[in-house]
Amino acid sequence: MSEPIDPQHFRHVLGHFPTGVAAVTSCDDTGAPVGMTVGSFTSVSLSPPLVAFLPGKHSRTSATIQRHGRFCVNMLGAHQETASRSFASGGDRKFDGLGWTWSPNGLPRVDNSLAWIECTVYAVHEAGDHNIVIGQVTALDAPQPSLPLLFFQGGYGRFAPLSLAAASEPDLIEHLRLVDAARPIMEEVAAHHQVECLASAAVGEDIVLLATAGTPAGGRTYSRVGQRLPHIPPLGTALVAWSEDAAHAWIARAGDCSQRQYDPQQLVERVRARGWSVATWSDSLRELESSVDDTTLKGLTPHGRRAVRQLVEQLGSEHEPDDLHDKSQHYRIRSVSVPVFDARHQVVMQLTVNGLPPQAGQADVDTYVRHLRDAAERVSRTLPDAGRAASDAVAGRNPR
Ligand SMILES: Cc1cc2nc3c(=O)[nH]c(=O)nc-3n(C[C@H](O)[C@H](O)[C@H](O)COP(=O)(O)O)c2cc1C
Repeated sequence: MSEPIDPQHFRHVLGHFPTGVAAVTSCDDTGAPVGMTVGSFTSVSLSPPLVAFLPGKHSRTSATIQRHGRFCVNMLGAHQETASRSFASGGDRKFDGLGWTWSPNGLPRVDNSLAWIECTVYAVHEAGDHNIVIGQVTALDAPQPSLPLLFFQGGYGRFAPLSLAAASEPDLIEHLRLVDAARPIMEEVAAHHQVECLASAAVGEDIVLLATAGTPAGGRTYSRVGQRLPHIPPLGTALVAWSEDAAHAWIARAGDCSQRQYDPQQLVERVRARGWSVATWSDSLRELESSVDDTTLKGLTPHGRRAVRQLVEQLGSEHEPDDLHDKSQHYRIRSVSVPVFDARHQVVMQLTVNGLPPQAGQADVDTYVRHLRDAAERVSRTLPDAGRAASDAVAGRNPR
């Protein structure tokens, strides 16, 4: 005979398994909305489409749901901790102060949930002090792409993708999917050259660092995942050089920079013509690097954002030098970037190598570019139907 399991120990051990959080809602005999928070929601079957949750046998809401015969699962996002607490409280005032609406099928939908799933009760199985309520799905949608609310060891938290992925900001979700595909390929490039390999993308009016792999031989990393900079000239040229509209918007965003020492349109043309982008070190770039080292624009005050923007506006001469053979210029190459194209020939992100050795010259750049382009092509091929776009890009054709 095995020892009886101590309930406290059971709870403690099971608390090590994180769950998502859902509010299961329905309506009572008087037509009033009811709901409860569950961490036990799970999908069960595709054909027929079944889901389940496990309410305690004493749950009043569960009894109401079984009587009503229908329920709605509202998947809660990281921004809905308050809703989770309300639905986990006992009593009849769980909907007080919450935004919600009746769905066309007469079930309560909690505003701003990640997804809703409407069900009819398919089966209820007893299991110890809980029931297993299985629902047959009648309608569902995920209208709000956002990060989920998680519950772990008695506390709320949010999803933080592994080391490579960026900060938990909803506008990055689509980009993070791309990064998942790029990750192993970036690791290879970083390890092969002993450099830092970065993936960044244009998100709104910012350029956002989505992922990093490896550390340069010197050990110093220059970039923080989630870091945002204003996407204005001369930053992120490879992200705009293959789209007239994007390049136009990029230049327009910079506004009137009468002191600018360079023509941003020329940068665009240069990058498009050679297929890659290069930055060399300058005092202005060093100043920018050190001031944004630990921060992202999103976390900055308007004043901080302006200060970062001013530093970007001082850049110019170090970006896209025409001739890296020119020994009199003593270029120190800071980074090389190439575009990654999707199936519609749009640039979805750029891959960059950072931390090149001090003596790196044109021949080294050629090698990095070759490997980076190969990596970008492989990343493109992992995107749906992207093979053709990638090979066009590598062959030097101008996809648009
Ligand atoms: C994150 C979280 C997850 C929960 N998961 C469940 C669950 O899976 N099953 C359950 O019976 N109660 C669960 N609860 C507790 C119920 O939400 C709580 O007991 C609620 O008051 C039940 O309300 P009722 O008595 O109106 O049905 C959870 C609570 C929280 C905070």
